[in-house]
Amino acid sequence: MIEFEKRLVAREALKLIGDVKLLGLGSGSTVAIFVEELAKSDKAGKIKVIPSSKQIEEVARNQGLEVIYPDGERPEITVDGADEIDSNLNLLKGGGGALLREKVLAYNSSTYVIIADHTKLVEKLCSKRALPVEVLPYGVSWTLGNLIKRFNCDARIRIKDLSPFITDNGNVIVDINCPPLEDPASMESEVKGVPGVVEVGIFVGLADLVLIARGSEVKVVRQGF
Ligand code: 5RP
Repeated sequence: MIEFEKRLVAREALKLIGDVKLLGLGSGSTVAIFVEELAKSDKAGKIKVIPSSKQIEEVARNQGLEVIYPDGERPEITVDGADEIDSNLNLLKGGGGALLREKVLAYNSSTYVIIADHTKLVEKLCSKRALPVEVLPYGVSWTLGNLIKRFNCDARIRIKDLSPFITDNGNVIVDINCPPLEDPASMESEVKGVPGVVEVGIFVGLADLVLIARGSEVKVVRQGF
């Protein structure tokens, strides 16, 4: 069912992008499905994409899309996924470790569109998942200790295949097991205030449009509504 919802929402997003010439791509499995749908469509030969990660770049190249890097012109639209979405369209991101580049793309896109299956909806961010934070390897044990002390929560360096997970930017991810967030904006700025923190997986006020699939229906929610 979840795979069905991801494809459904990916197809809806494709209708939305119209004749856009420059498109930003987030990361993750939902965006990968969107890229497959894009590549099959009549838009494929007319569009350039800016990927947010090596993962989605590989998917886009394998599907024959034209890939460019972020310089000069900014994307008209970026399509991205999310790990959690609250009722104010604040997002929790970084499950795949691409949060830093995703935030750069989101900030620099005219329209930032989120596509997700219904399991991503939550009342408060960090209800189901830990908060991902991208951290500089330099002094990482100090930064980890500072985050644990400051937020009085368990926090761990993300491990993949028995080693620290390294982001596309050469950094590590610290996952903070905090309680559900009452105030995502202040949490974002408080975590960013800790030296060594490069970026936080809380996206406040960036999503313009969220498409959520539930069963065979897609709900579209706009910022401000
Ligand atoms: C990667 C992300 C992804 O957008 C998020 O993890 C959603 O992935 P999926 O579509 O596989 O559930 O934030 O950093």
